[in-house]
Amino acid sequence: MLNNLIAKESKPLTGRITIPGDKSISHRAIIFGALATGETVVKKLLEGEDVLRTIAAFRAMGVDIERIEAGSYRIQGVGLDGLAEPNDVLDMGNSGTAMRLITGLLASQPFFSVISGDESLRGRPMGRVVNPLRKMGAKISGRNGGKLAPLVIEGQELIPLDYISPVASAQVKTAILLAGLNTAGETSVTEPALSRDHTERMLEAFGAQIQREGLKVTIDGWPDLVGQKIVVPGDISSAAFPMVAALLVPDSDIVIEGVGINPTRTGLLDLLIKMGGQIQQLNPREEGGEPVADLRVRHSQLKGITVPESVIPRAIDEFPVFFVAAALAEGKTVLEGADELRVKESDRISAMVEGLSKLGVALEELPDGVMINGLWERLAGGATVKSHTDHRIAMSLSVAGLVSKKPVKVLGCGNINTSFPGYADLMASLGADIEWSG
Ligand code: S3P
Repeated sequence: MLNNLIAKESKPLTGRITIPGDKSISHRAIIFGALATGETVVKKLLEGEDVLRTIAAFRAMGVDIERIEAGSYRIQGVGLDGLAEPNDVLDMGNSGTAMRLITGLLASQPFFSVISGDESLRGRPMGRVVNPLRKMGAKISGRNGGKLAPLVIEGQELIPLDYISPVASAQVKTAILLAGLNTAGETSVTEPALSRDHTERMLEAFGAQIQREGLKVTIDGWPDLVGQKIVVPGDISSAAFPMVAALLVPDSDIVIEGVGINPTRTGLLDLLIKMGGQIQQLNPREEGGEPVADLRVRHSQLKGITVPESVIPRAIDEFPVFFVAAALAEGKTVLEGADELRVKESDRISAMVEGLSKLGVALEELPDGVMINGLWERLAGGATVKSHTDHRIAMSLSVAGLVSKKPVKVLGCGNINTSFPGYADLMASLGADIEWSG
């Protein structure tokens, strides 16, 4: 199977595209649809491997989830107390979201379960959800004292918690709220900065009582969740790749249709616009409780910036490709305070520093970020770089190849399917010189 990508200097990118559905919203649509009563129909669901893991997990717990056609699913909700004990390990593959969210949910379900994932996921921190869940009375064990998967969950009745989280993480927030769904009383999470709020929005749409006061969110246990119709917006985290490519490849002018622009997710737009990027939001509208727009992106000469720390949680998944934009910007770009990047699907700071320096970029790795001296012209390229089996590193380095003098080969790109099936074909449809190779 072809597992590597070769990207070469490209002619202008032009045309209109739509991108696959939002990964975060797709996971939540399956989870809340399964926990509601009645039928939920989801359209434009992301059929990436991560979301397929979530679907498989709920099927393994007895939920009837039918694929009507590409991207359209019908879920027969079983209610908060209707899940069945899975008779095997729930394998979450590469998906941190699936593992952390479902761990929270299962902590308060009255049955035994074991949850695991691939090598990368088994190396990612789980203490951030296990510790607060234990404060609710959850019985969860795992490797390294419960810090690492596989996790063994002896589900039971929990007590509500008022949790002050040390990390701005939607996965932590959602795991606790999911445990709180099945717990009598009010469960709250307060974050140091607002992380993506898709859970709050979708739970409200399904009928839960959610109170939001600043950085604190509170849920009342045992809500009546009622099945919904959901249209998943395009994933801004996937749009980020054609967006940065169009900014960097001279004379490009593209439109990306139907992109989710929830303000908790638009940090990259703010950063790129601050750098001088020409990005327009056209036809703003709302779909399924989430704001959506078409994004017109034109080639722009970018300028280096210092990233304000407050933007970090709103751009957390987009930093790998942001580093590529910074590499082609005039002057210095500095990012600090982003140590969360080290515990994603890979250590995204060191993976990008390694890859970009091989392509001729002058940059310095910082403990919690990076300093990049922009080249303000094409990169040297002509190197083989590693994705570290991380989908976003793979796509980011391939975008770098589109503005490199010599071809760039990115090794190990199969994981792109976790979040962006069809990535290379879609980029090629805009005119990008990118292809799969052995
Ligand atoms: C996600 C939250 C973020 C993000 C991840 C998806 C979610 O992780 O990086 O890709 O769907 O809740 P953290 O909550 O760990 O920051």
